[in-house]
Amino acid sequence: MDKLIIEGGVPLRGRIRVSGSKNAALPILMACLLAETPVRLANVPRLRDIRTTLKLLNILGCESEFEENVVRAQVVLLKPEAPYDLVKTMRASVLCLGPLLALLGEARVALPGGCAIGARPVDLHLKALERMGAAFELTSGYILGHCKKLKGAHITFDFPTVGGTENLLMAASLAEGETVLENAAREPEVADLANFLNACGAKISGQGTSVIHIQGVSSLHGCEYRVMPDRIEAGTFLVAAPITGGELEILDCPFQELDALVYKLREMGVWVQEDGERVIVRRDGELTGVDVTTQPHPGFPTDMQAQIMALMCVAKGAGSIQEKIFENRFMHVLELVRLGANIKLKDRTAVVRGVPKLVGAPVMASDLRASASLVLAGLAAEGTTEVQRIYHLDRGYENIEAKLSAVGARIRRAPE
Ligand code: UD1
Repeated sequence: MDKLIIEGGVPLRGRIRVSGSKNAALPILMACLLAETPVRLANVPRLRDIRTTLKLLNILGCESEFEENVVRAQVVLLKPEAPYDLVKTMRASVLCLGPLLALLGEARVALPGGCAIGARPVDLHLKALERMGAAFELTSGYILGHCKKLKGAHITFDFPTVGGTENLLMAASLAEGETVLENAAREPEVADLANFLNACGAKISGQGTSVIHIQGVSSLHGCEYRVMPDRIEAGTFLVAAPITGGELEILDCPFQELDALVYKLREMGVWVQEDGERVIVRRDGELTGVDVTTQPHPGFPTDMQAQIMALMCVAKGAGSIQEKIFENRFMHVLELVRLGANIKLKDRTAVVRGVPKLVGAPVMASDLRASASLVLAGLAAEGTTEVQRIYHLDRGYENIEAKLSAVGARIRRAPE
């Protein structure tokens, strides 16, 4: 296991490029199961979750190659079982349920179980697929699903679940007739999946809004597609500049997808400007605390909650963060406190009172975005911070220490 060693206190300056989106690439890779001819995907980030997904695709009968940032995938012979060994390491594995039911009328997918940020059930995925004619049993830790031909249905989600909407987009693309999804997730990654499916011959409209129409087609073909840039990685860089008192020029930044974050950063006193192909961000004077509530898109993203908390730790005055999406997503709080932060936690709300400075210490990463907040805090802290268990970070940030070093951070990886 590796750790990151950070000598903090250096203002980051320079250009940094955003990689392809992990959360868009994962469902798009699963959707490759649906294509009868080869798919070529560009801008795929080189991450552990992507390699896990390619392993899973292989077990399900889809062969692939991954060179530079390009994946070439081709279905050979589909098989219906996603084993626990893979599913337990990556919850998004459950996204193969929709494609397998649509193609084989059968799926055996291990139940993902709990994770560090909460229970995260898949009941909404199953309920919606049942409306299309699928039936499920839960046996020995597996979801056993079967159906005849899936049928279009009118489905209103109880909650705009990202994964649930994605599973349904894939299932409905090959179903008989029209499916309408209401209260669908509006996240840009859901729209990216829909755009990919359309490039493969699907008939989807309304993606990016809460009502999506899918007209089932009889088959899908391969295509060439470029995965959207990662808005959460971009958002992490938007915090990295002001937390270190530096200035970054961010390339490939999906700025229009970052409205809620940019709004809060500006309210804190961060200077952010889109300038043609790049976004420039810097700290202008003192930062102030703000109140943030996480919401489904276009609200403030839960995946940026830990990072903005790190920034609020060094702002002037108090601010609050209410977490409305996941019930247990405050594991980073105690670690930030180890670096000298002043944070009080009550139920789902954290009250952050800014301190004049953070001081380096050994800390432990508990999940992907928590790790990012500890790296940001370490970059701002005086002295040395060691972030342990960074395998979480490697699930979601491509070449993070190389990218940060290139803009001046003193950061290196070492065995734990
Ligand atoms: C996706 C993202 C994750 C992000 C999250 C919310 C991927 C691979 N992951 O996760 O980074 O934090 O969206 O933006 O894209 N829920 C249920 N039952 C269900 C499904 C969800 O109760 O069947 C609950 C979850 O426990 C959670 C909330 O709904 O509290 C949101 O979950 P969901 O939108 O489905 O998130 P994921 O797709 O798992």
